[in-house]
Amino acid sequence: MTEKLSETSAAENEVTEVTEPQEPEASPQGIIAPSSDWSNPLRDPRDRRLPRIAGPSGLVIFGVTGDLSRKKLMPAVYDLANRGLLPPGFSLVGFARRDWEDQDFAQVVHDAVREYARTEFREEVWQQLAEGMRFVPGDFDDDDAFKQLRSSIEELDASRGTSGNYAFYLSVPPKFFPKVVQQLKKHGLAGAPEGSWRRAVIEKPFGHDLRSAEELNRIVHDVFEPDQVFRIDHYLGKETVQNILALRFANQMFEPIWNRSYVDHVQITMAEDIGIGGRAGYYDGIGSARDVIQNHLLQLMALTAMEEPASFDAASLLMEKLKVLKAVKLPGDLGKHTVRAQYAAAWQGGEKVRGYLEEDGIDPASMTDTYAAIKLNVDNRRWAGVPFYLRTGKRLGRRVTEIAVVFQRAPHSPFDSTATEELGQNAIVIRVQPDEGMTVRFGSKVPGTSMEIRDVTMDFAYGESFTESSPEAYERLILDVLLGDANLFPRHQEVEESWRILDPIEEYWATHGRPAQYTSGSWGPEEADEMLARDGRSWRRP
Ligand code: BG6
Repeated sequence: MTEKLSETSAAENEVTEVTEPQEPEASPQGIIAPSSDWSNPLRDPRDRRLPRIAGPSGLVIFGVTGDLSRKKLMPAVYDLANRGLLPPGFSLVGFARRDWEDQDFAQVVHDAVREYARTEFREEVWQQLAEGMRFVPGDFDDDDAFKQLRSSIEELDASRGTSGNYAFYLSVPPKFFPKVVQQLKKHGLAGAPEGSWRRAVIEKPFGHDLRSAEELNRIVHDVFEPDQVFRIDHYLGKETVQNILALRFANQMFEPIWNRSYVDHVQITMAEDIGIGGRAGYYDGIGSARDVIQNHLLQLMALTAMEEPASFDAASLLMEKLKVLKAVKLPGDLGKHTVRAQYAAAWQGGEKVRGYLEEDGIDPASMTDTYAAIKLNVDNRRWAGVPFYLRTGKRLGRRVTEIAVVFQRAPHSPFDSTATEELGQNAIVIRVQPDEGMTVRFGSKVPGTSMEIRDVTMDFAYGESFTESSPEAYERLILDVLLGDANLFPRHQEVEESWRILDPIEEYWATHGRPAQYTSGSWGPEEADEMLARDGRSWRRP
């Protein structure tokens, strides 16, 4: 099978096609064999329903003992193999400071897969994957460990046909990014041998502010070409986030009203009910705005606000998203139009939870925000005068991410004012998670003899309309890396532009008093409600 794969793969080994139009079940080996049936004249090569299957390749994960690796990356690799989307010889190399043998590493992956994988566990798929697992013990500044990594890759090329194609996944604290990429360069691992590829996958946060992001980009680009670098923003791997593009640009009915003539404002909410858990070391000093507004929420905003791209390739998407980010203007008075806060102890879901300042590992005088709300303006012809309100927080009422496009009221009402007393504003709400779908809110007559109009909703739910379940964001993104498809990965310009937006807000907060407090399990601090009330608006209760 390996032989067949290398025959049919293009130079870049990107996509191996199969003949069935539907995503097929994996073979008993858990691997789809490529077919050479390209000659079938009935088959349209543009048929996007064909599964995209990675060619010969391997993945090296740095920071393999971390939570992200265990809960997301390892299960995603298994799920891809189980769906038949990885090549037979796919190999996984773990690199970490542990005294492990290959079998110990395989056991850790096994346990992670058993606990967190999305698809069912199949022994034969597991066995085939496990045979390609290697572990390299060492520190990031340990030259011998990188030499061993190089030999492991060469050994896998020979024994599993990985053809020198490797992605290096940096799932490590940001302070180690420069060291790891420099070591990859020093040990000749960053440059691809003739006819193969090497890619670097970099987790967020990409920098702490504009200056550090620029510096990091300089270091990374000194080692890798721009098209070798894949910066992860896992929100872009979510099905519902990609659906923003489908919704807007595959339909005729939304786009004509998607502008300042009809839209009153946009609210983007990412609420979590959990606290910081065991992540004090990462979170303190970073806070909610750097953690998720700089990346996930600004990306959601860019996709919601951008113009139609000329095509859906990485360059066209970048161009349109970047135009939005560049058009973002902060309000003059940041004291009035931004809020940051910390969760306070309370009963939440029947459990007594600690306040942020009492969490293990948190300095009781910490100024770090666990909630942030900001108002942004997009100063262009489409959006001038339409505020975008972005908010996020830990320990809020429930876990929900949504984009609500709220429309202006009808310019004239032919009804008695009593008839429309309870009528709100029309809205289109894209439910990113957890109840994936979309809601349209509009007014309807209440049945009865008098004219009374109230809000009703019309709903689309993924679960009801489709039988296919959505892949996890990391499944999609890891496969894209192996295919060299960069469409869903932010480029350095977007990352830097997002810091340009956030930096003045962070600077303002750092020099203006302490964060407000909010009760765990609530919908945030009063100050956030006041912020919207000043504009004559209120937050949705999702
Ligand atoms: C991460 C943040 O990027 O996203 C976390 O660092 C957050 O703080 C997480 O909990 C939420 O991801 P999801 O996919 O569960 O919404």
